[in-house]
Amino acid sequence: MTTAPHEGPHGTRVTEVRIEHHREPLGIGEPSPRLSWTVATESPDWKQSAYEIRVRDAHGDETASTRGDGDETDPERSDGDETVSGRRDGDESVLVPWPAAPLRSRQRKLVSVRVWGPDGTGPSPWSPETALEAGLLEPDDWTARFVSPAWQEDVTDQVPPPLLRGEFRLRAPVESARLYATAHGVHEIEINGTRVGDHVLAPGWTHYTERLRYQAFDVTGLLRTGGNAVGVLLADGWFRGRIGFEGGARNRYGDRLAALVQIEVRHTDGSTATFGSGGDWRAAHGPIVSSGIYEGERYDARRELPGWSAPHFDDSAWSGVDVLPYDLGRLVAPDGPPVRRTELVDPVAVTTSPSGRTVLDFGQNLVGRLRIRVSGEAGRTVTLRHAEVLENGELGTRPLRLAEATDTYTLRGGGTEEWEPRFTFHGFRYAEVDGWPGEIAPGDIRAVVCHTDMRRTGWFECSDPLVNKLHENVVWSMRGNFLDIPTDCPQRDERLGWTGDLQIFAPTASFLYDCAGLVRSWLTDLALQQSPEGWPPLWVPGFESVFPRFACAAWGDAAVIVPWVMYRRFGDTGVLAAQYASMKAWVDGVAALTGERHLWDEGLQLGDWLDPTAPPDRPFEARTDGHLVATAYHALSAQLLADTAAVLGRDEDRDHYGKLAEAVRAAFHQEYVSPSGRLVSDSQTAYALALRFTLLPEEEQRRRAGRRLVELVRAGGFRIGTGFVGTPLVCDALCAAGEYDAAYRLLLEQGCPSWLYPVTMDATTIWERWDSMLPDGSVNPGDMTSFNHYALGAVADWLHRTVAGLAPAAPGYRRLLVRPRPGGRLSHASAAHRTPYGRAAVSWTREDGELRVCVTVPPNTTALVDLPGREGETVEVGSGRHLFRTPFPAAEDDVIEEAPPLLPG
Ligand code: BGC
Repeated sequence: MTTAPHEGPHGTRVTEVRIEHHREPLGIGEPSPRLSWTVATESPDWKQSAYEIRVRDAHGDETASTRGDGDETDPERSDGDETVSGRRDGDESVLVPWPAAPLRSRQRKLVSVRVWGPDGTGPSPWSPETALEAGLLEPDDWTARFVSPAWQEDVTDQVPPPLLRGEFRLRAPVESARLYATAHGVHEIEINGTRVGDHVLAPGWTHYTERLRYQAFDVTGLLRTGGNAVGVLLADGWFRGRIGFEGGARNRYGDRLAALVQIEVRHTDGSTATFGSGGDWRAAHGPIVSSGIYEGERYDARRELPGWSAPHFDDSAWSGVDVLPYDLGRLVAPDGPPVRRTELVDPVAVTTSPSGRTVLDFGQNLVGRLRIRVSGEAGRTVTLRHAEVLENGELGTRPLRLAEATDTYTLRGGGTEEWEPRFTFHGFRYAEVDGWPGEIAPGDIRAVVCHTDMRRTGWFECSDPLVNKLHENVVWSMRGNFLDIPTDCPQRDERLGWTGDLQIFAPTASFLYDCAGLVRSWLTDLALQQSPEGWPPLWVPGFESVFPRFACAAWGDAAVIVPWVMYRRFGDTGVLAAQYASMKAWVDGVAALTGERHLWDEGLQLGDWLDPTAPPDRPFEARTDGHLVATAYHALSAQLLADTAAVLGRDEDRDHYGKLAEAVRAAFHQEYVSPSGRLVSDSQTAYALALRFTLLPEEEQRRRAGRRLVELVRAGGFRIGTGFVGTPLVCDALCAAGEYDAAYRLLLEQGCPSWLYPVTMDATTIWERWDSMLPDGSVNPGDMTSFNHYALGAVADWLHRTVAGLAPAAPGYRRLLVRPRPGGRLSHASAAHRTPYGRAAVSWTREDGELRVCVTVPPNTTALVDLPGREGETVEVGSGRHLFRTPFPAAEDDVIEEAPPLLPG
């Protein structure tokens, strides 16, 4: 038998070795990064029986990706240049401990893995090597210093941001070079006139007071023997710019912009040299007149300084810099990928508004900014205003509140000029263009989509185009709101990492994209910012504002639920260990509040936020008692903490929090549940919570609660009756009660409020409110009317798990739960997910009285297959493709209940 290179018997091969949650492991911060790999094989039922990891120094020939293929097993050894783990029996292939000595700063290694299959068959050939490189792991690694322009500025309002520059000489050709950088503010760097890397809004937003990220770049190709220059563009960003509500406040983290840049060079002769920002750098104002995340950017191309980031530029008229003191121990490497430009979108229409303005429609509500190509006379200013919607044919900017979202470009004149703002982003579908010279030609104005450059991992599709559009809108809302941190919305004067929003969306997010690194970083900040009582800020990174910090159920519970979701979806036990103290602090804090009664029935709660019946200006006035919600969440978090303790082998805590959860459930039961299973808040959200959070101990009560939930859903005419808390739960709760038809009817409803209503109103993202746009096309008068909030899109998780039928049965999808429940006249549905073990997929069709289910199970995993009508006959299958058939009514025969007439009011 002949096999291709890198293939073993049955084509078995390790396709990819991944390093922690990095996409590009350059400049990583983990000295002992965990390794994950995926296997491809034509052999069915493939289970790994053993593996071997090889880590070798990356000096010299990095292209030699296979060496020493053969059947013999290397003994465990480590000889300076190379560590080989030796054959290790075991089936683990996700986040496997680092087998070699901890990395030191800058060390570059090549990692490859080979595996043995069932009954010890193998080994596979060594995988292609993955290169990884440590960043600067110790504060002492930094010889560069933070430098800031040595001028006075009135920072109470926007001021022109600075350029910084420095020069250095290289005495020999370069073999390799790295640039490490961060800033107070946001930055872009150039070397010898060329942009370094492609990151957007670096270094991103962390709790700067304690943690500031730096990034590493390979700049080998940008340097030359002799004179070199490095230039840094800075802007306010989150550090100094206006952030927060009601106009926000400036200077939240400091009032001086500064850059830290270190360039490390290895010459071809083996010698090394380091250069960095320091007291010899120079500063000047450049072409950016002002830049703010909410305000937008103003740029005057006449003020450009050609050659400013190249050597031999005359900077004698520039100012000096101050070296700022800084605790370099706060610098951290990234946990995941950076923000990048990910797509260009052309306008679908250029129209003239009733008032005579030029308005571009990009056909998609997106997040990023515009790139323009323009020619005209010097001094002419083009103004770009952004909005998500039109109102009466004009830009609808009221939902932006105090965010101006306006960019201006003043032409230098004399040719074609291209520009895109660097340090701002907007949430928009429409843009108004003013001052454009002549006609806007195709290609002149394009939208540049920006977000954290996560790998796409999840897909869903079904026979209903409206449901597909709903799902696509969820994807776009995730893209728009995973810009370095998970935000509530991307357009108005907010854009904050609201904890409750991610708490409910995390399962959906972790299916659609590999967001593990981004979430990991956010959780670290959440833990750092917990108050002594255990309350996380309501948004992370948090800051003092008009909005007080308080113990808020469903929001604060993110401290427990989000790490748990990361563990379940990515198989990351490390995140549980890292967050354990934070998880405990939250549960202990609430337990201290509730005391022996275990009822959380005092204090402010946001509750079932944005219940559709809540008045537009009082979104917390839900039908469901906020304290019922709070106690239900307390029970859930205590239980998840007990489960976490069990995973981490902390038996005492497991017992303690298990008992606490039991006591809270009992208190809930006594306070809110009648013996027959009625709840005192007779609302959909209350029943959904009770059913999903296992708050009803007796079978009969669960049956009664399920029946009551359906009655309420039906009485509501299948319009949505839930807010932030109930919405992610209601379909699952209906299914738990066996009421699949009602769940589908709710999903497929098109009247307002419903999931599909916005789709019928031409929505291209998920709205904050069920009726952000009212049926007459006007914008909801409420203060909070975003058209890009992922929270209510959390239903996508149900689409994946129940409509298509692809769910994790064990952490990291090591075992899949394939449990499709077709309904709603859907004739087919499918979902695919790139699990940590490889691609899993489920697709089903209904044909000729039969349900055909095709399942793809990744190597080294199994799937529990549970088909409708065959309950109790669950089978477990191994890796490979499987086809199942079972008698099932045709789609046309599904019961689609007509909605009863809605009662007035
Ligand atoms: C945000 C929400 C958030 C809420 C809580 C809003 O302004 O946009 O998504 O969870 O406040 O108060």
